[in-house]
Amino acid sequence: MTPEPFRRKDLLSIRELSAGEILFLLDQTDSFREVNERDIKKVPTLRGKTIVNLFFEASTRTRASFEIAGKRLSADVINLSASTSSAKKGETLRDTARNIEAMATDVLVVRHSASGAAHYLGRELRCSVVNAGDGCHEHPTQALLDLYTIREHKKDFRGLNVSIVGDIAHSRVARSDIAGLIKLGAGVTICGPSPMLPAEAGCLGARVTTRVEEAIEGADVLIALRIQLERGAGAAFPGNREYATTYGITRKRLRGAKRDILIMHPGPINRGVEMSPDVADGPFSVILEQVGYGVASRMAILYLLAGRKPEEAIPASPPGLEEGSRTPASAPLRRTEDALAR
Ligand code: CP
Repeated sequence: MTPEPFRRKDLLSIRELSAGEILFLLDQTDSFREVNERDIKKVPTLRGKTIVNLFFEASTRTRASFEIAGKRLSADVINLSASTSSAKKGETLRDTARNIEAMATDVLVVRHSASGAAHYLGRELRCSVVNAGDGCHEHPTQALLDLYTIREHKKDFRGLNVSIVGDIAHSRVARSDIAGLIKLGAGVTICGPSPMLPAEAGCLGARVTTRVEEAIEGADVLIALRIQLERGAGAAFPGNREYATTYGITRKRLRGAKRDILIMHPGPINRGVEMSPDVADGPFSVILEQVGYGVASRMAILYLLAGRKPEEAIPASPPGLEEGSRTPASAPLRRTEDALAR
């Protein structure tokens, strides 16, 4: 596998990227890490460029790191949230986005509860669009920082066993991580109670288990996920205590783990539910390292998108038609897009 330049107009999903493009984005992240370690953490690379972060859902890590990344590259960065935008007055997503674009925006970073929202804007707008998380669909920049963190510690993805435990069905992070890991040659196991496993589990290319001990045994990396109550996951389990007892990652459960297992979590963590505090803060945890690499990873993405020449860019492919796409997710996504367009 060799890196292949990333020349797209947008970053919408991991499924649409080739393994070579993913490796290229990871290599680019290396270049920006050094800037974050300087005393003066600023370079003039994107001076005169404008980046707008448009968030229709809550966020700490993604929004802050896109803002920090843009500012460290000297771009002008504007943050808009649904609660303070004219979306509150009934403006459609398309109108909001086109008005932002009319102000000569170079990159629009969007988080939305509707799966397909970022793809929709990618086709509607001439400026670059970055998917900062769309419904249960994808969170490509989280996957890139997760892959970067794994590569830092394990060097090669081939032959690696990665287990993802928790609310897989509602997790955009899981879908992006699984796609990226499999493209790069890792084996993936997904684990959770049956109602938290996605209907399309068989199409994702991952091994499936409902026993957390089986997911831990032999894993080189374990990614725990939050139960997404805001997407209805609460109905899948009697309560937090039962979930913690049956699936929580605890020191006791890790006794059977590999001695160099990496413990990861995209955040936010529900301490004592999906993971005990001593594991979250323990010696195997790289959770805060993930957050740190997120800034360099997003600097690389903003640099490539804002610095692109429009005639070179590859436009977005319709969701479900991306390279390596094996999930039947395209029909629901198109329905969402039709709804967003109205
Ligand atoms: N991992 C992640 O997306 O965190 P935020 O919701 O805080 O952005």
